[in-house]
Amino acid sequence: MEMKHLAAAWKRGTDFLGTRYAILCGAMTWVSESNLVSAISNEGGFGVLAAGNMPPDLLAKEIEDTRRKTTFPFGVNLITVAPCFRDHIDVVVREKAPFVFFAGSIPSGKDIEHAKASGAKVVCFAPVLSLARRLIKQGVDALVIEGNEAGGHIGPVATSVLAQEFLLNITEVPIFVAGGIGTGEMIAQYLALGASGAQLGTRFVVAEECAPPLQGGVHPGPGAGRHAHFAVRRLAPDDPRARHRERGDEGLQPPAARFAEQGEVRGASSG
Ligand SMILES: Cc1cc2nc3c(=O)[nH]c(=O)nc-3n(C[C@H](O)[C@H](O)[C@H](O)COP(=O)(O)O)c2cc1C
Repeated sequence: MEMKHLAAAWKRGTDFLGTRYAILCGAMTWVSESNLVSAISNEGGFGVLAAGNMPPDLLAKEIEDTRRKTTFPFGVNLITVAPCFRDHIDVVVREKAPFVFFAGSIPSGKDIEHAKASGAKVVCFAPVLSLARRLIKQGVDALVIEGNEAGGHIGPVATSVLAQEFLLNITEVPIFVAGGIGTGEMIAQYLALGASGAQLGTRFVVAEECAPPLQGGVHPGPGAGRHAHFAVRRLAPDDPRARHRERGDEGLQPPAARFAEQGEVRGASSG
């Protein structure tokens, strides 16, 4: 594909997100808090706060803290099956979060309407084409397709399979691809297929800005459960395992490359 097509695909993503780069750092429960989210947005990417099952007042505080740390756009990811979900919607509407991501399952038309009425752009995850079409009819502004390579994800379908199904059939709204993406080259491949950008998660866990809550390997927050075994270990500069990152980092946009400084993610999660 010619560069101009890639540029147009990328621009659709940056225009939608209001960012310099069409790269999202996907919400990670108990990982994506105001530090990481604001750092990503300040560097030209798009950070997404993870509501997980936070107490609602903590979510409100995280939104306020993020706004204090960045003037750039960011999103808030709500898990529709979380016990606090209803309170979380009230919080994002009250706080006028600029972007609301519904994850966990498919939100109701009312929930989408409610979030949009506050002025938010609404983004949903679509597991199959028919649901994507329904969500678009219900007013969703963009979609994320997330394959089973993604950290914290338990869906059965691979990113490459979803990409073929969605990117070749849906043009009405921007689609961001997530799951197993670690280099700029890979992002370009998905742009060539029609994606408007990419959502990365695991790769950003090595960000300096992500380190504080993870230090010691256990997030201190209340309810830190399934992801609490996540740990970040720094690699020494001469560690041979650091070498393979160098090639990939060249292909990433600058902020992603910077965030992906030598580090290693240990542990796994199955959200
Ligand atoms: C520790 C962890 C927690 C996550 N929590 C959430 C979450 O709360 N909500 C969500 O929509 N996605 C969640 N994800 C998925 C990420 O937002 C992102 O889509 C995914 O990590 C992308 O795939 P990658 O890890 O291969 O880059 C989580 C991922 C990880 C690694």
